[in-house]
Amino acid sequence: MCKMHGTREAEGGGVDITNGREILPGNVIPRHYDLTLEPDFEKLTYDGTVVIDLDVVENTKSITLNTLEIDVHSTKVLSGSQTISSSPELSHNEDKQTTTVAFGTEIPKGNKAQLEMKFTGQLNDKMAGFYRSTYKNSDGSQGILATTQMEPTDARRAFPCFDEPALKAEFTITLIADKKHTCLSNMDVASETEISATKKAVKFNKSPNMSTYLVAFIVGELNYIETDKFRLPIRVYAPPNQDIEHGRFSLELAARTLEFYEKTFDSKFPLPKMDMVAIPDFSAGAMENWGLITYRVVDLLFDPATSGASTKERVAEVVQHELAHQWFGNLVTMDFWDGLWLNEGFATWMSWYSCNKFYPEWKVWESYVTDTLQGALSLDSLRSSHPIEVPVKRADEVNQIFDAISYSKGSCVIRMISKYLGEDVFMEGIRQYLKKHAYGNTQTGDLWNALSKASGKDVAKIMDIWTKYVGYPVVTVTENESDKTIHVKQNRLLRTADVKPEEDTTLYPVFLGLRTKDGIDENLVLSKREDVFKVQDFDFFKLNADHTSIYRTSYTPARLEKLGRAAKDGLLSVEDRAGMIADAGALAASGYQKTSGVLNLLKGFDSESEFVVWNEILTRLSAIQGAWIFEDQSVRDGLEAFQRDLASEKAHKYGWEFKDSDDHIQQQFKAMLFGSAGLPGDKKVIAAAQDMFAKFAAGDKTAIHPNIRGSVFSIVVKYGGKKEYDIILETYRNSKNSDERNTALRVLGRARDPELIKKTLSLPFSGEVKEQDIYMPISGLRSHPEGIEALFNWMTENWDELTRRLPPGLGMLGTVVSICTSSFSSLEGLERVQKFFAEKSTKGFDQTLAQSCDAIRAKAAWLDRDRQDVKDWVQSYSVKTIKSEL
Ligand code: BES
Ligand code: ZN
Repeated sequence: MCKMHGTREAEGGGVDITNGREILPGNVIPRHYDLTLEPDFEKLTYDGTVVIDLDVVENTKSITLNTLEIDVHSTKVLSGSQTISSSPELSHNEDKQTTTVAFGTEIPKGNKAQLEMKFTGQLNDKMAGFYRSTYKNSDGSQGILATTQMEPTDARRAFPCFDEPALKAEFTITLIADKKHTCLSNMDVASETEISATKKAVKFNKSPNMSTYLVAFIVGELNYIETDKFRLPIRVYAPPNQDIEHGRFSLELAARTLEFYEKTFDSKFPLPKMDMVAIPDFSAGAMENWGLITYRVVDLLFDPATSGASTKERVAEVVQHELAHQWFGNLVTMDFWDGLWLNEGFATWMSWYSCNKFYPEWKVWESYVTDTLQGALSLDSLRSSHPIEVPVKRADEVNQIFDAISYSKGSCVIRMISKYLGEDVFMEGIRQYLKKHAYGNTQTGDLWNALSKASGKDVAKIMDIWTKYVGYPVVTVTENESDKTIHVKQNRLLRTADVKPEEDTTLYPVFLGLRTKDGIDENLVLSKREDVFKVQDFDFFKLNADHTSIYRTSYTPARLEKLGRAAKDGLLSVEDRAGMIADAGALAASGYQKTSGVLNLLKGFDSESEFVVWNEILTRLSAIQGAWIFEDQSVRDGLEAFQRDLASEKAHKYGWEFKDSDDHIQQQFKAMLFGSAGLPGDKKVIAAAQDMFAKFAAGDKTAIHPNIRGSVFSIVVKYGGKKEYDIILETYRNSKNSDERNTALRVLGRARDPELIKKTLSLPFSGEVKEQDIYMPISGLRSHPEGIEALFNWMTENWDELTRRLPPGLGMLGTVVSICTSSFSSLEGLERVQKFFAEKSTKGFDQTLAQSCDAIRAKAAWLDRDRQDVKDWVQSYSVKTIKSEL
């Protein structure tokens, strides 16, 4: 911990409050950091020296910069050739994470200054700042590597710095390390010098102007593969416990993607190389450090022999997302964290865009509708959601906005405007934006300006509401046959079905996207509360064609039935069908329709042939099952039977053998059907799963195809017991394959036996599950009522331990809280959650907690409305099924 516990407020206020933001005072501006670091793998500390060149823009007697858990030994302030102070007074503000350096002599405005600090830091195990990551060597010994994660506000944990995205500077970094270690940083190596028999100093070239959150350095034993298929060298690195050949897919994809982005953005990647590194302990999925992208092992390394189609798609998504940031985020950066969506929303959209170019046969824009769009609409239907552009005041608030609003709603906003302007015009705007703001910082308005310029349209006018206001509308459509018009009306949608008039004042510019037999009318915009539009042919129309707009449509039951028929007649796109089912399901959950109506709609899709649509059908059914998880067994059995009836026939027809001739989508479709039929009790599938599992347990590791590994494990745990559980636990413990280990860990929670639940809940703190993976064993427990109950109790009983291990500022605590609370579906459950947290600090996860509570409220209200409705539906469904079987 830091020695400078000065409680005195820094002179000059320490921190400016501008727009309510806590930011550093603007009296000096950092221009260049000369940073030297020497990690010590024995003591698990590092020594550092930083020399920061500053422009003095106001008369200055003190300098405030960010530090966190750093022990500063000595500080010097220089100006020109003059030493201003060799022992200035330091005061640390723990709460604001700053240190103020105060000196007697004033440095006049217009001068240059240098601040030099020598310090020691911990190579911590919190996956933040300069931290240590460990892995097991083949001889059983432990390997260590030192690596960094700075975003959003942990560069200050690694070295004293001006830790704000707008304070860009150049960096010259030197690492002092064991000769046997590989040293990496954002830039390429300038020089390597021997400094002792065992040590070397590796100095990297000076970086361009960049934000502190993108700085990275790594020291450790690493292998690599390299490609020369791009203009510049690209490498994939991994620790020696990994087969580096598994980096091949990402390596090749990175080469093609960088070339594609250079062309698309008309902007050369400005650094001399690109390294991508697999890190054994990593809190997020990946991090876009400029020229040195770090990844969770499973998000970079891919073994086609042992991983399936969905894993491949995930790896491609992550790689293309982080590479998009090299321009969007790294070259042009948001000026503060409330612009985070510019980074994440764009990179998310861009990863789908480029994936679609490279793998058109994956049809990712179809799955976008069931994936990203639904993720956005789901979170944004809660009262505790937030606008895309959210005011962020303090460092500990930033982590909570790395959520489905910044990523998914942000991406949907981009998709909406790109469709509206046309992709070519949109990209032209993006090129202008990147050119104009290269190496600089921007606000949302700068993007809209560039797009306006390229398109000649007033983009800000259309888009401002979408980024500045929370939520989105449900558009209710009623029909007037006599004058061939539809009446559309927009209202704020809340999942809790309790919108107050004062919460329903925003009028969104809604691109209606009216689809008729003649095509799509892209020009209809509903900007008022309600309006009337002509529709020529009442036989068929649908709003929100391809679901490129951010709203849900509520039709009359009669129209919904007609749309069901239109789907069969081939009048709707895949996106239309999937989106329409999603809307119906979500609207039932929010009280706009009866749940029985949705169940009937799903039933009517029996002749549907597309994976994405089936995925949505089963997702919506599983949302109902989730809300009904504590309800009467007979109703739950009825819903399971329905799921089986939906999936079984197709599962049997397509089978569960995977051939080389199966395309990417086919593979995922088969895998989904297999699980969806087997879990609710299809006997044939269960027998097949048990057979494969028996062979697997007997040592045939290829007996289970990776596409259905999770399903096979889940089925045998559900219909087996301790024996199967133990084999899966052993697989987690001993498998060499990270993908397989993760699958095993995720499945264990599905076991319902009290002893096994106990065993599962002993894993997170057992020392054998890395903190990065804590959410895996616990999330499986959400699949049954006993597990949900046990999870909450586990969280409350281990709260101190949890907060100790997962510091609130880092975001993982919020994930755990959400997993352990949000599966309740009654007001009693809600009360227990609220009571537990009433006396506790919820700093760092208050928003996530509020979202969990809203999710519970929504389910409780849903059950209140439709408990009987679903019971009746299940009863009549069972009667019909029995009759038809007789
Ligand atoms: N910039 C983020 C990494 C990050 C996340 C840093 C949270 C700090 C806090 C990175 O670009 C990212 O978004 N990674 C995603 C993967 C992506 C494919 C959605 C992730 O980590 O899951
Ligand atoms: Zn990102």
